[in-house]
Parts: sequence; C-alpha cells; structure tokens
Amino acid sequence: MEIYLNGQFQKLETACISVTDRGFIFGDGIYEVIRVVKGSLFRELDHLKRLKEGLEGIGIHPGKAQFEQLPEICRDLLKRNELMNGEAVIYIQITRGASWPRTHTHPEPPVSPTVYINTSTFNPYKELHSKGAKAITESDVRWTRCNLKTTQLLPNTLSRERAKNAGADNVILVRDGMITESPNANIFAVKNDILYTYPASNYILSGITRKVVLEIAVRLQIPVKDTPISEFDLCNLDELFLTGTTTDIMPITMANGKEISNGKPGPIVSKIQQAYNEMMYAGRNP
Ligand code: PDD
Repeated sequence: MEIYLNGQFQKLETACISVTDRGFIFGDGIYEVIRVVKGSLFRELDHLKRLKEGLEGIGIHPGKAQFEQLPEICRDLLKRNELMNGEAVIYIQITRGASWPRTHTHPEPPVSPTVYINTSTFNPYKELHSKGAKAITESDVRWTRCNLKTTQLLPNTLSRERAKNAGADNVILVRDGMITESPNANIFAVKNDILYTYPASNYILSGITRKVVLEIAVRLQIPVKDTPISEFDLCNLDELFLTGTTTDIMPITMANGKEISNGKPGPIVSKIQQAYNEMMYAGRNP
C-alpha cells in the first residue's frame, strides 16, 4: 500500500511524520473523505471546495499550486494501489505542519503544511442499507464550529464506541433538545411526506451527501424543510435516515430500542437510495 506524504509517494508501513506536527499535538488540521467508483471521484469539486473552505476557516495555507495538484495526486495514488476498477475511498489530511517549541499560537513564520493522502478499497454497508440501522441518542458535546471538518474527532469516536458497546450501529446527536447529526453522517427525518434536516450552520458538518440528497429531493418533488427535529418527536417520525460519504443513504429503523414507525425502511428513503445509487454508480456524477 502506497500513500502520499509531503510531495512523495511512500510505503504506508514506513511513512513518518514529525512528532512535532501540530496535527499530532493539537489536532490542528482538516480532512476530507471522498468516494471513488471505477476511478471516478464522486462529487470531487464539492469535496475540494469544502477542504479549501475548511483550511481557510482555520488559517492553514497550502500553496495554490500544491492545492491544485491534489486531484492528480489522488488519481496517481489510486493507480499505484490498483484501485481504478472497484470501489475505493480517498482520505486527505492537511495539518498546519511541524513546529517546535510547542506553542498554542501559530508558528511564526508559518511552516509548510503537512499533506497526507491515502486510498483504500471500500465495501458499502449493504446490509444496513437494506435492513436499517439501530441508533442511540447522545448529547452533542462537540464544539460550536462543527461546520469545519477538523481532525479533532474525540467526541465523535467516543460516542460511536459507546453506541457499539450498546449494540447499536450509530448515534443521533442532540443539542438543546434538537437532533443535529451523527458523529460521521448527517440526519434526515420524514414526517407526513416532508423531509426535515438540521439547517446548514456551525452546529453540523454540511455534508456533500446531504447536498446530493437535497438535489434529489427537488428532482423527486419531495418537499424539504431545513428545520430541526426535536428528540421528543423521534417516536412520531415516519422515517429517519443517515447520509454520508461512507454511510451512503442508511435508514435508521430503531432509536433507543424503539422502532421508528413500523421498524422497516420507508418509501421515501428507498426512493432516495435508488436515485443516489444511480448517480454514484451509473456515472451521473456532476
Ligand atoms: N464523515 N457529519 C459529520 C460529523 C461527518 O463526519 C460526516 C462525514 C458527515 C457527512 O458528510 P459527507 O456527506 O460530506 O461525507 C456529516 C466522514 C465520512 C468521516 O469522518 O469519515
């Protein structure tokens, strides 16, 4: 397995970063995850745009030329790892770089950002897509800049681990009584044929898959309200589902041990799944 690190393709096993890297010390970095089908990066431009905005959001400035090389490096890496035919996933992480001594303030003068990219094969969660997932609710204890896709994922990983230990597949995060998202996906609800999702704001990551679902909803003439759903209303919903790059469109059929509606994926999520799969697999990939 080859990875890309700071200008060089290297073996995963021997690639190294400095122990002074601010990504390692402070979680001072931004990442992206991109799905690949037969060598084609799904929603490539949306992911690159969000990566750029995230880096600008925390003041990390890779050179323009360096940033513009990223798509070519991703394709090169897919070829080197023989991942041009099936399904794959690309992970890009850019940190503020290595600097010593440790200071909370940013290095002055700025250091070169660390750029790390890996690729791997990907197997979609087909069983959960067709049967539905179990979720638990948890308080959303993350910071208030969730719109930035930073590498600081401790609250996210801890709550996924708690869900796993509780026999659940994922987590419904709740802030001030309202469902925000999951630790690694956005959440949509359906009530009376209307689609609800938390508004794009600093309290959620504005997902690329969420964006695609909103486009599909317009095409399928499903009304959408970007209005938060309260945790209290969970038991009255017709449908609930997750959206994300590695999650795809995943129905949630049980929350805190109680079935959502009849405990089976509903008609709206099924239609959206079908439309999404057509876009991703049939190459309708704007
Ligand atoms: N997670 N919300 C959060 C907190 C996420 O981490 C993600 C993605 C999403 C969905 O965004 P998108 O549709 O752009 O993938 C929403 C990635 C896949 C991860 O951390 O692995």
